[in-house]
Amino acid sequence: MEAIRKQYTLTVDDQEEIIKRFTNEMLNGLKGEKSTIKMIPSFVTKRPTGDEKGDFLALDLGGTNFRVVLYHLLGDHRNTQDEKKYRIPEEAMTGTAEQLFDFIAKCVLDVNPPDNVPLGFTFSFPCLQFNIKDGELCEWTKGFSTSGCVGKNPTELLNEALKRQGSSIRVAALVNDTVGTLMAKCYEQNNCLVGVILGTGYNCAYVEMANNIPKWKGSKEGEMLINMECGGFGVLDGYRTEEDIELDKLTPNPGAQYNEKMVSGMYLGEICRRLMLKLVKAKELFQSATIDENGHIHSYMEFGTPNLSVIEADGSVDLEDVKKVLEEAGVHNSTLEDRKTVKELANIVSGRSIALAACDITAICRHMGEKSKDCVVGIDGSLYKLYPGYHSRLVKSLVGLKQTCLVELSEDGSGKGAAIIAMSTVH
Ligand code: GLC
Repeated sequence: MEAIRKQYTLTVDDQEEIIKRFTNEMLNGLKGEKSTIKMIPSFVTKRPTGDEKGDFLALDLGGTNFRVVLYHLLGDHRNTQDEKKYRIPEEAMTGTAEQLFDFIAKCVLDVNPPDNVPLGFTFSFPCLQFNIKDGELCEWTKGFSTSGCVGKNPTELLNEALKRQGSSIRVAALVNDTVGTLMAKCYEQNNCLVGVILGTGYNCAYVEMANNIPKWKGSKEGEMLINMECGGFGVLDGYRTEEDIELDKLTPNPGAQYNEKMVSGMYLGEICRRLMLKLVKAKELFQSATIDENGHIHSYMEFGTPNLSVIEADGSVDLEDVKKVLEEAGVHNSTLEDRKTVKELANIVSGRSIALAACDITAICRHMGEKSKDCVVGIDGSLYKLYPGYHSRLVKSLVGLKQTCLVELSEDGSGKGAAIIAMSTVH
């Protein structure tokens, strides 16, 4: 246990080293040189004022759920919305492009949107953008492996599916969720300079000056929001553990998204599961318990991060909720000592996620310089919203790195932002 604690706890010195490496990758990415951080210009060059008005449709595809939302921007920093959520069928996540995009198009028709409403498509995967509405999927992340999409333009794939379904609606803007999150927060208050998603996946966007992007061939005037794709940050030698290395090998995208695989909600439960098994093997855990051979504790990716949320939230003397989670995973008759160890493991794994996210936010703020001093960092995503203590521990870690930025929830950032960007294409 002691060794695990040591390996997973990042000291401020470790964090400074990671910040240095991250900054280096950021600069390489901006230059267009080889880098694990893509630094993709989003073609979004203007932030909203909060006065914008009108009805806009947003589609939000990026995790296991898919949402169709009709936003009514009211001006005065306010909006209302009508929304419908769908679970993406497994065959759409791993089948063909036509299956996935026909499913999406059918959902759009299902909500009966007004004709010709501008559509913002939040497609939360690494896409090189050619303009505000067109791009090319570089690779899938977060467990998607739908065929016939990599190298293709998601906007075209969706427009064709909409046509097939007899709809006249067409995509006006292709948006990454981090860029949407930044824009949505700006609609509420103007000094948001960083957008972060801490959910199934992990990524950041920030406001760069166009003349600070050597690889950018367009106008050097004004701002450009950058979709960093920093879940891909991979210069993490010395920090990746045996669990990270083994987990990566089993994902559909081995060798990629190292940072995301240490930070995001998709993987934290799996890391903890592996650590529990490691301690069982070392005879430090569950020695008097019985473990079902077919229990989830033995199945790859079956011990989800929501379990860690329950474990960390359990403040009872006997750790009754921890016991329940373990029972459900196939571990019976755990002792209180076992449960305390499991709780500590969850805390260690989430702590590393938080420390890494704090490194990246710090690197971004330091890169932006003076103007980032009292800027707002808008964050959306299930991990940030639902994991007990994530926000306060993130703030603490940032304070430890001498950051003075404000970390705030960007409520429904990924959808609302796309609507705001779609709006900018018609005004
Ligand atoms: C993955 C995607 C990225 C997205 C993030 C959060 O890292 O590659 O585009 O922003 O998940 O959803």
